[in-house]
Amino acid sequence: MISPGSIDLLLNAAVVEDVVGDYVTLRRSGSRFKGLCPFHDEKTPSFTVTPTLGIYKCFGCQKGGNSIHFLMEMENLSFAEAARQLARRYGVELEETGGQETDEYKENQKLRESLQAVLDYAAGFFSTQLHDTENGRNIALAYFKERGFTTDTIHKWGLGYSPDDWEALTKQAQKDGYSLDYLEQAGLVKKRENGSPFDLFRNRVMFRLQSVSGKIIGFAGRKMSSTDPSPKYVNSPETELYKKSDNLFGIFQAKQAIKKSDKVYLTEGYTDVITLHQAGIENVVASSGTALTPGQIKLLRRFSPNVTVLYDGDLAGIKASLRGINLLLAEDLNVRVVSLPEGEDPDSLCAKMGGEAFKTFLQEKEENFILFKAKLLLKDVENDPLKKSDAVRDILDSVAEIRDPLKRTALNRQLAGVCDMEEALLSAELSKLVRKKTADVEQQTYTELKQITEAAGIEMPRETLTDEPQENAFLRLLMLHADKPFKEELTVFDFIMQELHNNDLLTFSIPFTQKVMNEIIRDDIATWPGQQHFVNHSDAEIASWAASVLSSGLELSKAFEDVHIYVLHEEDNYKHEVISLFLHLRRKKLDMIIRENMEKLKNPEAETVDILEYLEYLSFMRLKIANELGGAVFTM
Ligand code: GTP
Ligand code: MN
Repeated sequence: MISPGSIDLLLNAAVVEDVVGDYVTLRRSGSRFKGLCPFHDEKTPSFTVTPTLGIYKCFGCQKGGNSIHFLMEMENLSFAEAARQLARRYGVELEETGGQETDEYKENQKLRESLQAVLDYAAGFFSTQLHDTENGRNIALAYFKERGFTTDTIHKWGLGYSPDDWEALTKQAQKDGYSLDYLEQAGLVKKRENGSPFDLFRNRVMFRLQSVSGKIIGFAGRKMSSTDPSPKYVNSPETELYKKSDNLFGIFQAKQAIKKSDKVYLTEGYTDVITLHQAGIENVVASSGTALTPGQIKLLRRFSPNVTVLYDGDLAGIKASLRGINLLLAEDLNVRVVSLPEGEDPDSLCAKMGGEAFKTFLQEKEENFILFKAKLLLKDVENDPLKKSDAVRDILDSVAEIRDPLKRTALNRQLAGVCDMEEALLSAELSKLVRKKTADVEQQTYTELKQITEAAGIEMPRETLTDEPQENAFLRLLMLHADKPFKEELTVFDFIMQELHNNDLLTFSIPFTQKVMNEIIRDDIATWPGQQHFVNHSDAEIASWAASVLSSGLELSKAFEDVHIYVLHEEDNYKHEVISLFLHLRRKKLDMIIRENMEKLKNPEAETVDILEYLEYLSFMRLKIANELGGAVFTM
């Protein structure tokens, strides 16, 4: 267990907008930040970060918490793991106290840590094999150099070499204390039917697969010789740490550049990514040769909605991958394409042209995906009306994926030109397709909205909120102005009683206030007994208090000296005093409840969702009150 004190220290250091900002592009919006929620698919940002509270919260999927919770969720970690990771990053020393964690948690924690250790070890092993062995240098390093990778690049990407040996890693790792079981579970070692183990990666140059936060989660090995009959690439299998469909090659190295340029280039291959980085184009990732998955798209849109797909210049390949792009459109990403000359991939072309020229090439050749697709599909069907209408429907199907109706309309107009067809005809067809698709989306939106509105109810604490100066001020207001009109039919007295009642403010911190209130509230009914009742009271304390208040006249209360109130009419001063007193009380009460709930969040078992829902509401109310107190002209 980590001591609560060090969690406090950690949360102070691990600034929430920083921690979240590593994964989500945040834009400032007043006192908060907004962005697209990394935990669910959404088109408009409902994910907020509130720096003053140190929390994030999504109004769409309801997830929320502090920096630690964010990392837990994002990296699939336990509370303690996430806290430790942040502590390392922010240089905070965590104090461990005794205490029990569940067995299951401990087991999983141990497994993940062990697999991580094995993968880190293997990464080191492959590097050593590359740099410190003769074969490594002569064969693998030579291969990398031959492909134009610089020494810096080789180090930056932690490239390696797996020797031409069935058991090099299996044996060395065990010798260095790593168990066969973990090696196998990490996907590095396989077993033959007879149970004898062997290395998965043999005689290959090695690429590290890293998570978005840079942890090594697997490897890809490429064969070095074209005469080698085995597959070009061998990849790690899925493991406890590596989920293929949620990962993009290069995302860790590219994420800052993607955010900065607000654009990502999507390529297919590992080498494309590395070569482009080396050429100074760092906002690039690879889908690793497979169709994009929803998880990968989600990962991309955390950093930017602008995706430019780089197509290898092979027509059959392009056509095959067109369908996959609809997925990007459906996620409301702005998809553009650059198609490369026949026979080139980004790696080869960039190496040929040089970085600067390639950058220019990308900028000049980039075009809207749908127009690109239209031109491509229409090329072969110009003289065949039947095939043409099939092609047009296929294109419109992509257009229909776009959620923004303005974008759709604009595209439709351009398409009419490209297809040489009536715009009205196209838009009628498009409307049909859109209607079909939106039916599902509407259902989803409705469900989301319902979740948002079903706010969690947490009971308000019943504690004394008022302090002595405030209670004095409040009694003083009563004594001086109780009978005066306040608003509509209400007198000051009515209003004050209503506010006390509605805000659970009927408990007081000083006995004298209670004594006065006992004069006012009898059998649950509040009536103003009049100034004379108090002046003439038999209780000397009450009588002398009443006398002194009445004689002090309209002297302003000290309780809210700090408040800046615009005085509209001299005779209405008392109204402002009453209002600001209650605003102060409410703000104080909110602060107290906010503090309590912030405390609750530090408990690993807290119902963070409910608490955050509530905190968001509280901080919103507090802001409203602060604005009112801050001197907005008050009208009654
Ligand atoms: P180089 O040929 O070294 O330039 O690599 P590349 O990335 O250009 O390869 P290619 O364009 O053929 O393939 C693109 C991506 O598909 C690769 O980076 C791999 O992620 C994946 N891939 C290619 N071949 C294989 C294979 O045989 N097996 C697996 N699992 N993946 C492959
Ligand atoms: Mn290539």
